[in-house]
Amino acid sequence: MDFNLFNSLGARQMAIDVGTANTVVYVPGEGIVLNEPSVVALEVVNGVERVRAVGSDAKILMGKTADNIRTYRPLIDGVINDLDLTEQMIKHFIAKATGGPNLLSRGPEIVVGVPSASTEVERRAIHAAAINAGGRDVWLIEEPLAAAIGAGLPIEQPIGSMVVDIGGGTTEVAIIALKQPTYSTSERVGGDKMDEAIASYVRMKHNVEIGPVSAERIKKEIGSASSTPEGMNIVGHVGGRDVTVGNLCEIELSQAEMAEALHDVVQQIVETVSRALGHAGAEIASDIINQGLVITGGGALLTNIDTVLRDQTGLPVRVADEPLTCVALGAARALQDAEFRTELHAASRVM
Ligand SMILES: Nc1ncnc2c1ncn2[C@@H]1O[C@H](COP(=O)(O)OP(=O)(O)OP(=O)(O)O)[C@@H](O)[C@H]1O
Ligand SMILES: [Mg+2]
Repeated sequence: MDFNLFNSLGARQMAIDVGTANTVVYVPGEGIVLNEPSVVALEVVNGVERVRAVGSDAKILMGKTADNIRTYRPLIDGVINDLDLTEQMIKHFIAKATGGPNLLSRGPEIVVGVPSASTEVERRAIHAAAINAGGRDVWLIEEPLAAAIGAGLPIEQPIGSMVVDIGGGTTEVAIIALKQPTYSTSERVGGDKMDEAIASYVRMKHNVEIGPVSAERIKKEIGSASSTPEGMNIVGHVGGRDVTVGNLCEIELSQAEMAEALHDVVQQIVETVSRALGHAGAEIASDIINQGLVITGGGALLTNIDTVLRDQTGLPVRVADEPLTCVALGAARALQDAEFRTELHAASRVM
C-alpha cells in the first residue's frame, strides 16, 4: 500500500489522557503523537465568541492577552469544569493527532482515561465528546489502572500493586490486583496546588505577586519536596510585582524555600497514600511491602517526592520511566489486549 494512502486512512486506534494540565495522545505503532497543555483560548470577534487557539498555542497566551481573548482550562481538579470547551478541545486534539478529518477513514477506536472519581455524568460527557470528535468506538479506562499498566506493574497477577498518580489537579492512588482496582482514592491535590502554594509563599515572604505560569516554571526548575544539604545552593529567579510599592522586580528563590512552600501540599499527598495503605487487606499489604509503590504523573518529577514518600511510608518507591505519558501508554496497551478490551467494553457502558 502506498504510504500516503496508508496515512490518509488515519490512525485506527488511539488512547487519550485528557488531564487537568496536559492532554496526551498515543497511537499504537507510532507512540506519543500529541502532548499539549489542556488549555483553550477564546476570542470575541464582533460580539461572537470563537476558539482562537488550543493546547500549546493557547497556553502561551495565558495571562498575556487583552480583554477580547481569554484563556480557559476546561478541566479543574481533575474533573470537567466546562463541558462544551472540553468537547471542543478533545475534538481539536483528535483531529490534530489524526491529521484532520478524512473521508476514507471510519474513524479511530478511542480509549480515554477518566479519573476514577469521575461521575457517571462526566464519563458520559467524555464518551460523547470522543464520539462527536469522530471516534468509531469509544472505551473508557480509569486513569490509575492505565497508569499502572503504563508503568509496567504486574497488574494481571494475583499480586497487589500500588500506583500513585500525581497529576495537575488530583492525586489518585490505587491498589490493583488481577486487573481490577481493589481500592482507589482521589484527592484534589497535585501540581496546581503546588503552584498556588509557591505563589502564596512568595507573596507572604517576599511581598511579591507572581502569576501561575511563573510559579509552575520555578517549581519545575528548583521545586523540591524536601530540603537537603545538596540543595542548599540551588536557586532560581522569578519575576513579579512588589505588592508594597508596585514595582516590577525579580527575586531569587532557593530550593529550601520551595520545600517550605510545598510542605503542606506534599503532606496532603503523603496522607492520601497512607489512607490507601490503611485500606489494604493483610495479604495485599504484604505484597505492597515487598513490591513498594510506583509514582506516575507530572508530580512524580518533583525533586525528592520519591524520597519523602519512601521515608514517610517506609516502603520502596519507584518513579515510573515516563511519568507524564504513562496513562496514555497504559490505556493503549489495554485497548490492544483482547481480554482487557472485553473488560473495558463492559466498564464503558455509559450510554
Ligand atoms: N519537573 C517537574 N517538577 C514538578 N512538577 C512537574 C514537573 N513537570 C511537570 N510537573 C507538573 O505536573 C503536572 C502535570 O502532570 P500531568 O500531566 O500528569 O497532569 P494531568 O494528567 O494533566 O492532571 P490530572 O491527572 O490531575 O488530571 C503539572 O502541575 C506540572 O507543573
Ligand atoms: Mg493525569
